[in-house]
Amino acid sequence: NEIYFAGLAGVQPPLPMTFTEIEARAQQALPPSIWSYVAGGAGDERTQRANVEAFDSWGLIPRMFVGAKQRDLSANLFGLNLPSPVFMAPVGVIGLCAQDGHGDLATARAAARTGVPMVASTLTVDPMEEVAAEFGDTPGFFQLYTPTDRDLAASLVRRAEQAGFKGIVVTLDTWVTGWRPRDLSTSNFPQLRGHCLANYFTDPVFRAGLARTPEEDRQAAILRWIQLFGNPLTWDDLPWLRSLTELPLIVKGIGHPDDARRAKDLGVDGIYCSNHGGRQANGGLPALDMLPGVVEAADGLPVLFDSGVRTGADIVKALALGATAVGIGRPYTYGLALGGVDGIVHVLRALLAEADLIMAVDGYPTLADLTPESLRRVG
Ligand code: FNR
Repeated sequence: NEIYFAGLAGVQPPLPMTFTEIEARAQQALPPSIWSYVAGGAGDERTQRANVEAFDSWGLIPRMFVGAKQRDLSANLFGLNLPSPVFMAPVGVIGLCAQDGHGDLATARAAARTGVPMVASTLTVDPMEEVAAEFGDTPGFFQLYTPTDRDLAASLVRRAEQAGFKGIVVTLDTWVTGWRPRDLSTSNFPQLRGHCLANYFTDPVFRAGLARTPEEDRQAAILRWIQLFGNPLTWDDLPWLRSLTELPLIVKGIGHPDDARRAKDLGVDGIYCSNHGGRQANGGLPALDMLPGVVEAADGLPVLFDSGVRTGADIVKALALGATAVGIGRPYTYGLALGGVDGIVHVLRALLAEADLIMAVDGYPTLADLTPESLRRVG
């Protein structure tokens, strides 16, 4: 209502109302190499495009005489009460998109203002303790890229617990960076690498492995980070990961039902169905097409979902296909690039308002009303 009444009163929205326009404006606003890093994906980006297009292959069926005057989008995730089932997916090196460089803090402040949780990446400009301090009453999650050194992994998780994060999201699909032609041709890695290592440079275990401090010997610190970063985990590592924390443990990058089943059997608390927004492996199924199988295999365990969500309708469709919570990646990153904290808040509010209105008009007033029966395959 606020958005509509402002429009009727002739108040221009601070930023465009559609993803397409926001994306176009972000492309103009960001330097080409940073734009390529954020907007780009793996290979010729077919999977990335398919992620978005997959939402067109489902249509919502309206129900009438429901009287959906009041909607309730509130959700419960790992015992946490959330105003909506939407969260901000981890975006590493997001500082590059912020005018002042502190994109992690800006995202945390937007989480505090909207109640939409942030999953904070391992790869940040701002140390996780400073990020968590901005969350206000909104719960936050820490995303772990598991280093090869187990003590360092344990230290990162311990710090996340102490900083007040409410869950650990372990990303499984990025122990090696995917084949990303845009990054390779704009050679932006020199810019990226100095901009994301705060969590390592402030870590006691990481620092202890260096002859001098990371500040004194940046080159050595970056080389050590490169050595430690990529850990191709196997199932044998999952009990160890589980043992690191009593916080909810969520595994990100799951697409195969058997993997969801096995992760559940080994004691994870949540399955995160995602193909990293098509950034890691080209030639894959759209993430949305993997969601129903993962939901079925998860057998009641919460399923987080992301990859390709661009509209409120997309959020509603993912929920109807069984997602417990839906993550947004690039859209809020572009909001940050265009308007800082306000830009992120604008993007989230527009997405949530659209989702809410679709649930109103289509007669699905609560999340429990959204089921696979609410949808049909198009064509
Ligand atoms: C990501 N993503 C990501 N995921 C993760 O687990 N850790 C990370 O550090 C990052 N970094 C990152 C940077 C950038 C620029 C993007 C765009 C994405 C993946 C992210 O969490 C999410 O899976 C996708 O962004 C979801 O797809 P959409 O919404 O961007 O289509």
